[in-house]
Amino acid sequence: MGRIVAVTNLKGGIGKTTTVVNVGAGLALKGARVLLVDTDAQGNLAPALGLQPRRTIYSVLMERANPLDCLTAARPNLDLLAADDALLTVQAELGQRPGWIRILETVLAPARQEYDFIIIDAPGSLTVMSASAIAASSDLLVPTTVEPLSLKGLDLLFKQLLRLKNSTRSVRVIVPTMFDGRLRQAQALLHDLQKRHGALVVEPIRTNVRLSEATAAGKTIYEYDRHSRGALDYAQLVEHLSTLWQFAPPPPPRPAPAHTNRPPNQPRAVPALVRRNGSLDRSDIPLNPPTPHDTSLPETCPNCGRPLNRTTLAGYRVVYCNHCRFKQQGMLLQERG
Ligand SMILES: Nc1ncnc2c1ncn2[C@@H]1O[C@H](COP(=O)(O)OP(=O)(O)OP(=O)(O)O)[C@@H](O)[C@H]1O
Ligand SMILES: [Mg+2]
Repeated sequence: MGRIVAVTNLKGGIGKTTTVVNVGAGLALKGARVLLVDTDAQGNLAPALGLQPRRTIYSVLMERANPLDCLTAARPNLDLLAADDALLTVQAELGQRPGWIRILETVLAPARQEYDFIIIDAPGSLTVMSASAIAASSDLLVPTTVEPLSLKGLDLLFKQLLRLKNSTRSVRVIVPTMFDGRLRQAQALLHDLQKRHGALVVEPIRTNVRLSEATAAGKTIYEYDRHSRGALDYAQLVEHLSTLWQFAPPPPPRPAPAHTNRPPNQPRAVPALVRRNGSLDRSDIPLNPPTPHDTSLPETCPNCGRPLNRTTLAGYRVVYCNHCRFKQQGMLLQERG
């Protein structure tokens, strides 16, 4: 059964959608089957992924359509249940239904067998949809900017969690976003956040214009600029979550049997769609050619000449120097077999 994860904060414009896209895409690059669900009437997820969906969550909520019949294939291993402004008009009606708080949990049930992770982009205010997203989720990711008002908003969210779920235990991580470490106030507020919430607070996602450019271009940050700080920060977050959730990437595809005549270095075909019964076709989804690793990475630090350490992070091979602050990453893509 897939894990349902809500990315939520009762404040707008703090990086929720950006986090949904780049955590979801990062997990998919690692080989997880991921469904992104937009529950915000702004419908930002589809354009952020460069998609024009034909059906949306409206059909699921109001016409009782099966969510698996309303998906848009986004990338290999990554699907989207999109939203649009039609959601604006239905929330009052949904709120009248008995047991409305469970509505998302109920309608998403058919999708849980098909995915490792269902990640919900929740609206930035307390609506029927955001309350229902919180109720449906086993895990909450809470992005927050590191500003006085955002931290107040975080307190409000924790109060709402106590009201809706009787506990705040489902908060898995608090992700400081748009973090500028050069600002003394940001450093002080981050320290304050860490003092209050301890290990829940993960490494900040730094302010990086490449992230907003990627959104505008309809691309994930790994597609738009895999060498950017934003890509590395989100890859690190994906790696942290994979460890937290004990998600192990599927084993690499076995070499083709000799009788298939596939030349040894020819990339595998785009993986077959994970769905067993549906109409989605992945054949038109571009797949980055899988490269074992980026051979352009240096062996020794270009700054201080010391040998570099190596690690692997959510689709990246990273080399870094323990002595100075040099860090560089190259791509290491996993393909689901
Ligand atoms: N780390 C970052 N550095 C620079 N820009 C960022 C960063 N994260 C997000 N942005 C940009 O900030 C804007 C708001 O981000 P995003 O849409 O993810 O926030 P949101 O919380 O989903 O907003 P809303 O509440 O309106 O849905 C977007 O233009 C996005 O590209
Ligand atoms: Mg958003």
